[in-house]
Amino acid sequence: MKYRLLIILLIFATGILFYSCSNLKDNIPVEPKIDVHQEGFSKPSSANFHGTYIKNNNWNLQECQSCHAADFSGGTTGASCFTCHKEPGGPLACNTCHGNPNDPTRIAPPNDINGDTATSAVGVGAHTNHLYNNSLTNNVACQNCHNVPQSVFSPGHLDSKLPAEVTLSGLATANIASNASFNSSNATCSNTYCHGNFAFSKDSAASEDQWAFTSDKMVGNNVTVTWNIVDGSQAACGSCHDLPPKGHIGYQQIPITECVVCHQGVVDEQGNIIDKNRHINGKVNVRGK
Ligand code: HEC
Ligand code: HEC
Ligand code: HEC
Ligand code: HEC
Ligand code: HEC
Ligand code: HEC
Repeated sequence: MKYRLLIILLIFATGILFYSCSNLKDNIPVEPKIDVHQEGFSKPSSANFHGTYIKNNNWNLQECQSCHAADFSGGTTGASCFTCHKEPGGPLACNTCHGNPNDPTRIAPPNDINGDTATSAVGVGAHTNHLYNNSLTNNVACQNCHNVPQSVFSPGHLDSKLPAEVTLSGLATANIASNASFNSSNATCSNTYCHGNFAFSKDSAASEDQWAFTSDKMVGNNVTVTWNIVDGSQAACGSCHDLPPKGHIGYQQIPITECVVCHQGVVDEQGNIIDKNRHINGKVNVRGK
């Protein structure tokens, strides 16, 4: 009898213990599943897309690095940026935010920062014609028009709002063109060497070339060009300099098919540029030089 009571008590006690234990178990605060990112963070079509988020957040990639590791390989998140951004550097590749995302050799717009591809968009403009599709010269690089950042986080790159800074140098400011400038308010480029702000003087010409001068110098037309009008009109022969230029024998009288007689190696008998390294290179190229 005594034992029976003891057993009942024991069962009762175990019951309480079991009850309180399971109660306790229910109360254990389970870490709720938080989605670190909003829905659509990986989907370009979503308003929550991470590209848009980063752009609207002053390009704060450091925030991403705090969880996804400094080299973007994922870190403790296990989610590597390289699954999609496969180029060296991952999201820091130079064609992630501008240029062609499928072609690392084309880092200039299009696409521009806002994703525009039309040449009428100022961010796109005549980049392709200068850099990748140039029928007149090989001698244009980013450096002629921009301070090129050493790395993505270099000062002067991401730390200012659009428009991008245009800083002309090198060939753009060669010869007499130190006053070359770009005006962002109307997208015009003035006084550049490339567009005819040049003067080659008789004094500094080789003595066997001085006969070709009808004045103390030969000068270009110094045209002001509009960056986002890309219809060929601003690249026509005779626009940057007359055929041939002012101060040159036979001013506006020599047919384009005859330039080859003295400027052989630069042009052919149809007036096509045949050596893009020798046209718009900052130098006089005559007599096959
Ligand atoms: C607080 C930490 C944290 C920060 C900050 C963070 N992430 Fe994440 N991210 C995670 C975790 C954890 C995951 C994996 C779980 C998930 O998808 O929610 C993830 C997943 C992702 C994925 C999905 C990966 C895949 O393979 O589908 C993308 C894209 C992503 N993050 C981009 C970013 C970008 C871009 C930034 C910076 C703007 C950023 N993350 C900042 C923690 C973070
Ligand atoms: C995270 C996005 C991002 C990446 C990656 C990136 N850029 Fe940019 N880049 C921008 C933005 C935004 C601008 C416009 C900045 C402004 O308004 O001045 C810009 C502008 C430029 C310009 C125009 C001059 C200027 O600074 O405004 C050059 C040249 C340039 N980037 C070169 C590069 C090179 C080279 C790399 C690779 C080393 C690179 N970019 C990688 C976002 C990026
Ligand atoms: C699931 C695939 C995927 C993952 C993972 C991913 N991205 Fe992206 N990211 C994209 C796509 C797609 C684009 C848009 C590319 C385009 O313009 O076509 C993009 C664009 C970007 C841009 C450019 C934004 C702009 O507006 O120009 C940045 C910066 C970027 N991602 C950073 C990151 C970072 C940082 C991580 C890792 C934390 C990451 N991405 C992970 C797919 C991904
Ligand atoms: C012939 C001059 C020239 C050259 C060469 C040039 N750019 Fe530009 N770039 C410009 C002009 C002009 C703008 C427009 C500035 C403005 O909006 O006021 C611009 C704008 C940009 C922008 C900002 C786009 C936007 O969305 O507004 C980027 C990024 C850029 N350039 C990158 C490059 C890179 C990278 C290279 C070399 C691969 C390059 N550029 C070469 C003249 C040039
Ligand atoms: C009969 C020979 C001759 C012909 C034909 C000729 N040029 Fe020239 N050209 C010269 C000489 C010589 C110079 C002076 C070079 C110097 O400064 O040393 C010169 C200089 C120039 C210059 C300025 C400096 C330089 O070399 O860039 C331009 C531009 C030019 N020529 C364009 C033309 C064009 C365009 C044609 C055809 C429409 C043409 N020339 C036909 C002989 C000729
Ligand atoms: C975008 C402006 C521009 C256009 C358009 C242009 N040129 Fe020139 N051209 C120059 C400049 C600048 C020079 C000065 C010398 C140099 O730097 O090569 C030059 C020089 C020349 C010379 C002298 C040889 C030399 O290079 O020194 C010839 C010949 C010539 N151009 C022919 C042509 C022909 C033919 C066309 C049309 C296919 C043409 N140019 C269109 C800017 C231009």
